[in-house]
Amino acid sequence: MLFRRYLVFLFLSSVACFSTTTDYDDYDGYSTTESVTSSDGFSTTVFPIADGPSCENIPKKSWLDLAVVVECSHVTLTQWTAIYTNILSYLSRLTIADTGDHTTRVSIITYNHENATVVYSFTDPQNLNRIHIALKNAISTTKLGESAKIFKGFRLAKDEIDRLKGFRIPGVVLYAATYDDSGDGNPLLASQELKMDMVKIVTISFEASNGVATPQISALASPGLALTSRDPVKNFGWAVGQLNCICPAGWTQLVIGSQADAKTYSDCFFTYTAQVLPAFTNCPQDNNLATVYTPNRLDFLRRNMSYSIEGGAFSVGLVRTDGDSPWYWQTYIENITYTNYPEFVAPPAATDAYGYLQLVNGDWKLFSDDGMTNSRPYICQTRSCDTNYVCDMQGNKHY
Ligand SMILES: *[C@@H]1O[C@H](CO)[C@@H](O)[C@H](O)[C@H]1NC(C)=O
Ligand SMILES: *[C@@H]1O[C@H](CO)[C@@H](O)[C@H](O)[C@H]1NC(C)=O
Ligand SMILES: *[C@@H]1O[C@H](CO)[C@@H](O)[C@H](O)[C@H]1NC(C)=O
Repeated sequence: MLFRRYLVFLFLSSVACFSTTTDYDDYDGYSTTESVTSSDGFSTTVFPIADGPSCENIPKKSWLDLAVVVECSHVTLTQWTAIYTNILSYLSRLTIADTGDHTTRVSIITYNHENATVVYSFTDPQNLNRIHIALKNAISTTKLGESAKIFKGFRLAKDEIDRLKGFRIPGVVLYAATYDDSGDGNPLLASQELKMDMVKIVTISFEASNGVATPQISALASPGLALTSRDPVKNFGWAVGQLNCICPAGWTQLVIGSQADAKTYSDCFFTYTAQVLPAFTNCPQDNNLATVYTPNRLDFLRRNMSYSIEGGAFSVGLVRTDGDSPWYWQTYIENITYTNYPEFVAPPAATDAYGYLQLVNGDWKLFSDDGMTNSRPYICQTRSCDTNYVCDMQGNKHY
């Protein structure tokens, strides 16, 4: 009920238009259709099985430490009401509170042509009304230039996140209209520092008058998380939910597609380089050997996980109980039917019960053996944390 009252308060006290209260919680940002339209306008069929499980994306169940980094310049001054009410529109979708499992803390960081400033900290009382006031006043309390130093904003966001780390997943939202990489501070490097610390970045670029800045600002985003000020709030909510979908430290998240249209899944992979007989492979609790049931998954593993594998072969989670039983992908949750992809290079012998992939002329091909003869490295798979699944960076489930 308290939450509702905040919405009403904002509606009355703000010049902004909170014109809709539609629930976008189920929006996943992607259509469920299984075909894509190619450039010639015809539909081409894609592989009929999803490439992996989607990240659960329920904004009000997010548990983020969300640093919102906002440009303060002459350019954003002219759009300030739209900017801060846009931010509030989104923040109203979250459960903002100091304590509680599925709650989010917000920090507001502004930056100008020289400095960045924390105008609202993770340790300030977490409620939307106070954040509203802080945002509204932020631009009038700082000096303004024609552009602003994004890297200063990122650096301060990183400090704030590192300094006040709790159990929540850190995430950064950048609102920028201009892009300035002059001098000694490089925004791209600052964004890479955050990403190497497992912090994902959503960018919102404002259409600058010359339209030049947008691609440069978008390039700072994590895959698939570059938005513009013209995108509807539901896209923004979806993107910020993706911030909450993150793999345990050291694990690689399944991302399919290129930067702009990349889709992130809730599968995470880890390569174990020790030589182990397939019959003895053992992934940590609640994990299993990698399942490789679509071409995109195979391609991802080949490009992103195989670099550390000696000898060009690794065990995967394709098994059968005996020579008369069907093959299946074994996970700790369910058995996934083997649908003949990838195809075995040669028909498995009656004693074969374990699948493995081996590099043949630059491609990964499927072979099988009895699991007791040849050792090889293996790739384990686990699920990511997400809005519905609170876990720690060691991958332990909490709730
Ligand atoms: C930047 O910070 C310094 C030190 O606090 C201050 O003296 C200076 O006025 C600030 N510059 C701007 C443009 O805000
Ligand atoms: C996977 O590999 C591709 C190509 O090398 C690279 O662009 C991409 O960033 C990698 N993705 C991850 C999640 O490591
Ligand atoms: C998977 O299949 C095997 C063999 O039929 C069976 O023993 C096992 O219980 C199944 N696991 C699950 C999670 O259904």
